[in-house]
Amino acid sequence: MVPFFRAADVEAAVSPERAIEAVRDAFVAYARDEWSMPPKVYVPAYPAGDFRAMPALGAGHALLKWVTSFPGNPGRGLPTVTGVVVLSDASNGMPRALLDAAAVTALRTGAAAVLAAQTLGRADASTAAVVGAGVNGRAVARTFAAIGRQVVLWDVDAERGHAAAEEIGATAASSRDEALAADLLVTVTPGKEIVLGEGVLRPGQHASLMGADGPGKAEIAVAELARVHVFCDDWEQASHNGDLVHAVGAGVVAQDDVTELGAVLAGEAKGRGEDEDVTVFDSTGLAIQDLAIALAALERADELDLPQIPL
Ligand SMILES: NC(=O)c1ccc[n+]([C@@H]2O[C@H](COP(=O)([O-])OP(=O)(O)OC[C@H]3O[C@@H](n4cnc5c(N)ncnc54)[C@H](O)[C@@H]3O)[C@@H](O)[C@H]2O)c1
Repeated sequence: MVPFFRAADVEAAVSPERAIEAVRDAFVAYARDEWSMPPKVYVPAYPAGDFRAMPALGAGHALLKWVTSFPGNPGRGLPTVTGVVVLSDASNGMPRALLDAAAVTALRTGAAAVLAAQTLGRADASTAAVVGAGVNGRAVARTFAAIGRQVVLWDVDAERGHAAAEEIGATAASSRDEALAADLLVTVTPGKEIVLGEGVLRPGQHASLMGADGPGKAEIAVAELARVHVFCDDWEQASHNGDLVHAVGAGVVAQDDVTELGAVLAGEAKGRGEDEDVTVFDSTGLAIQDLAIALAALERADELDLPQIPL
């Protein structure tokens, strides 16, 4: 029998604070080559969306997340991101748990966005904003709120932005410009249009770009990425998908210009330099983050009333 963590079970098992801690440890373990992660495989089903197969190995366990991004789904009353996570024992291959992929994704995405903002943002940063108040944008806002930060939310769909702010106990931004001016900015849009045009980010700001995680997506203009200090989750993955691929293709950003977040967290690379620097974290979402959340959930399995699946 293998326990199944439904979305509510994942949320009950892993708090946003615990998610930040677990994701931080995963980035460090990966930077130190203690954890491994074969490249994410995209299975395009365009124009509707795409599937991703995301494997990782670490802490005596292997994980596969089979997950989607179907941007038109909310219009049909369906979520953009859905799927299942399988966690297995790496000593004998036996499955240990199944988990709702959307809930795992939301927790680890919120954790990575906030972890990058805490690590790379200015120590005196006071304002935080999330642009894009969908499933994962709300997860980021909830994570900011959990660590005691006031956060404003802005969505192109104003009603959605207000509803999300109310649900989280946050504030809806009065304008897009108010949100974009925050000291710690997180974008979680579908990546179909540029949110950060050339010259939008101001000295001292940090932006975590979470939305553009697949082929053909971008949230920042190539010229804007070229003039800031760029960090990413994983060079191999981020330079082939999302925001960075456009700047790399244009020849304005190269591997030497980009630092992995894990290297900063492991003390192997420098993070923010001057107070006036603009830092940007380009996230494509890593299976090691999912592994971190799945392991944290498994720790609490005995405390929860989980459905058991015969396998
Ligand atoms: N980097 C990662 O680890 C990671 C993880 C999960 C999801 N994602 C990506 O993040 C994106 C959002 O995912 P989601 O599940 O939250 O989707 P969602 O459909 O639930 O939410 C997207 C939100 O963005 C809003 N929006 C669209 N264009 C906008 C714009 N220009 N400005 C402001 N708001 C805008 C929409 O109204 C909607 O509320 C997707 O592209 C998804 O693939 C990335």
